[in-house]
Amino acid sequence: MIKKLAKFIGEYKKISILSPIFMALEAVLEIMIPYLMASIIDDGIKVGDKAHIIQTGLLMILMALLSLGCGAAGAICACKASAGFEKNVRSAIMDKIQKFTFANIDRFSSASLVTRMTTDTANVQMAYQMIIRVCFRAPIMLIAALVMSFISNWRMAFIFVGAIIVLGGALTVIIKKSFPKFEYVFERYDDVNEKVQENLTGIRVVKAYVREDHENGKFKKASDFLYRKFVEAESIAVLDSPVMSFTMYTCMILIFWFGASLIVKSGGVDMQVGQLTSFMSYTMNIMFNLMMISFIFVMLTIAKTSAQRIVEVLDEEPDMVSPENAVTEVRDGEIVFDHVNFSYSKNPDNLNLEDINIRIPSGYTVGVIGGTGSGKSSFVQLIPRLYDATDGTVYVGGVDVREYDLTTLRNKVSMVLQKNVLFSGTIRSNLLWGNENATDGQIRQACRSAQIDGFIDDLPNGYDSVVEQGGTNFSGGQKQRLCIARALLKEPKVLILDDSTSAVDTKTDAAIRKAFREYIPDVTKIIIAQRISSVSDADMIIVLDEGRIVDYGNNDELLERCAIYREVYESQKKGADFDE
Ligand SMILES: Nc1ncnc2c1ncn2[C@@H]1O[C@H](COP(=O)(O)OP(=O)(O)O)[C@@H](O)[C@H]1O
Ligand SMILES: [Mg+2]
Repeated sequence: MIKKLAKFIGEYKKISILSPIFMALEAVLEIMIPYLMASIIDDGIKVGDKAHIIQTGLLMILMALLSLGCGAAGAICACKASAGFEKNVRSAIMDKIQKFTFANIDRFSSASLVTRMTTDTANVQMAYQMIIRVCFRAPIMLIAALVMSFISNWRMAFIFVGAIIVLGGALTVIIKKSFPKFEYVFERYDDVNEKVQENLTGIRVVKAYVREDHENGKFKKASDFLYRKFVEAESIAVLDSPVMSFTMYTCMILIFWFGASLIVKSGGVDMQVGQLTSFMSYTMNIMFNLMMISFIFVMLTIAKTSAQRIVEVLDEEPDMVSPENAVTEVRDGEIVFDHVNFSYSKNPDNLNLEDINIRIPSGYTVGVIGGTGSGKSSFVQLIPRLYDATDGTVYVGGVDVREYDLTTLRNKVSMVLQKNVLFSGTIRSNLLWGNENATDGQIRQACRSAQIDGFIDDLPNGYDSVVEQGGTNFSGGQKQRLCIARALLKEPKVLILDDSTSAVDTKTDAAIRKAFREYIPDVTKIIIAQRISSVSDADMIIVLDEGRIVDYGNNDELLERCAIYREVYESQKKGADFDE
């Protein structure tokens, strides 16, 4: 896992190495200062050597400045390196997600992908910065302080050794106890994040259903639970600081005790006043660094979980790639399903489409009818290979879809998804998704076919009108027609509309179909619809039920022999009569 992430340090390797070097220099310089301090007191003040005091004092200032410089340089390097590392990880995740198929995305949720790209990368970045800044500095400080105290007075130094053993042991116990609890909390964190995201994405629905209180309650419950667990973990972890203080003050008392009695007993030979003050500094230094080390351990656990979640995304194999020697030309819009079974879970006992066999000649207009969940969307998604058939083969233009270059196939099979999406930008920028090089004339023609040209012309900014994120500043029907125009701009051989005129009135719906007949007669048009009137004039109507093709034929044939079709027809006919 570490290896996988380490390669994203990339161009920031040099700066990543510089940072610990600066930090180590800072540590060494900082350690020298108490030593010089002791020298000023013992060799300067006590003997009244003014020159020594000034000399050493200047040296001390120089060291302090140098240490400040090194510290700052190290911190800057660490920030740059870790931010760069985070940037690399984030773009790697983004690249990977762009390669994901629908099936890959089904496996993670998009909410979880967002958490992984934001919170998790931030955690890893923090940890990385910590590692290069503190991981070297703290142990170096610790060892250097120990060495210096041994040089000053080895007998006294043993007090430190004792303290480190006691403190180290206590910290290990605390970390061991609180670790699993923290890990648990961070897993739950995800839940809360996902709840927030779901709620915010669906905020309009929440408001429409006046579910604010309910949603608030749900969120409160989740975050209350998290709060309790966090307090539980934290209440063990906070023992850190009293244990630390206890050891530190014990250390100080012992040092004062022994130090003072040594000074008095030996008359300042075995131990001097200045040395005693430097010992005080080292005590603080050693304790502080032990604290930092224990803090790093906590950081690293958090980061470990995050790193795992990132690697999961990076390791996910896109389950569809263009084959070698891929076909890059689609002959025509003929579509054949040959004994096709399909299951989202790839489980042959849980088929979402079962034994689909059909041939749709190029240029046909085909209606697809069936209740919700009957498999209409699943059926058409196999044509541009948004999913792969579990068994059997789908052919477009006489070629197995798996033999096509994916880009070619998806450009020639243009699909308006049931959940259509516009992106923030302008109307023109959204339409250009269909074809970057479309001329104004082509754009206008596509909009005319989709019956949206009049609406756009009436807008004050016309084609340059702003589209908000998710297209929220347009009505459902307007969005649907913009999406149809976008799909038309691809100049496809197959055009699929998945319930794409559900929010468009019947008259406009009919006008769109008329335009299709006039302007794109050779394109195979597959129209999924709830309204019989949207498909009744089609060359072929496919009736789906529970993932199977019940029957297909034209309106008259189906009325005669298909009970399901007749039922839907009758019920809608009555409604229509009633309307008039
Ligand atoms: N992404 C998915 N993952 C798993 N199951 C799905 C997914 N999309 C749809 N299904 C299931 O497949 C079946 C057919 O769905 P779908 O083709 O969307 O029906 P329709 O478009 O006719 O309403 C339903 O039972 C639905 O629950
Ligand atoms: Mg559907």
